[in-house]
Amino acid sequence: MSMFNRWLITLLYLTAGTTLQAGEGPSLGTPLSAGEVAAADITVMPDGEGLPTGSGTAKTGTSVYLANCMACHGEKGTGGINDTLVGGHGSLTSDRPQKTIGSFWPYATTLFDYVRRAMPYQTPGSLANDEIYAVTAYLLYLNDIIDQDKELNAETLPEVKMPNHDNFVWAYSP
Ligand code: HEC
Repeated sequence: MSMFNRWLITLLYLTAGTTLQAGEGPSLGTPLSAGEVAAADITVMPDGEGLPTGSGTAKTGTSVYLANCMACHGEKGTGGINDTLVGGHGSLTSDRPQKTIGSFWPYATTLFDYVRRAMPYQTPGSLANDEIYAVTAYLLYLNDIIDQDKELNAETLPEVKMPNHDNFVWAYSP
């Protein structure tokens, strides 16, 4: 090994030793504030853990849907240019299974999480929690899962049992 290489290795060793003290990070980026972490912490668990305050019914959700969702998902959740959101009930064991949120999804709470996280497709995060509860209620109502007047909130949404719920197997023991 040349003198230069020895010198270089020693330098690298010393540099590493001086800059990467135990417990120190690589000095990249800036720490997030508690508020920024809270804004990104939007996961809703199947049992409803993480659901925010707020509420809505299918009645109030109709206008939310028409203004923000119909253009892509069609009138009443069918016939749009993107995913069909309504129907397919009883079709899963047929030759032409039609998986929709109503016929396939096991948890109503996932619908809230998904819409809040990802919809409207072009402007996710633009709806208030009341509007998300309302449009969730409207889609569950269109799928004949809840009544038009049923108020959904952090307590009632986890109680809604989805038609295909029992056909899922929980892979992790409780
Ligand atoms: C600009 C078009 C567009 C708009 C507007 C839109 N969506 Fe979507 N939506 C999509 C697309 C595209 C997908 C499929 C996304 C994927 O698979 O990654 C989707 C998927 C979904 C799904 C999942 C369906 C499934 O079975 O997996 C739901 C639920 C949904 N949208 C609800 C809504 C709601 C509620 C609104 C209004 C608040 C909305 N969407 C507005 C385009 C749109």
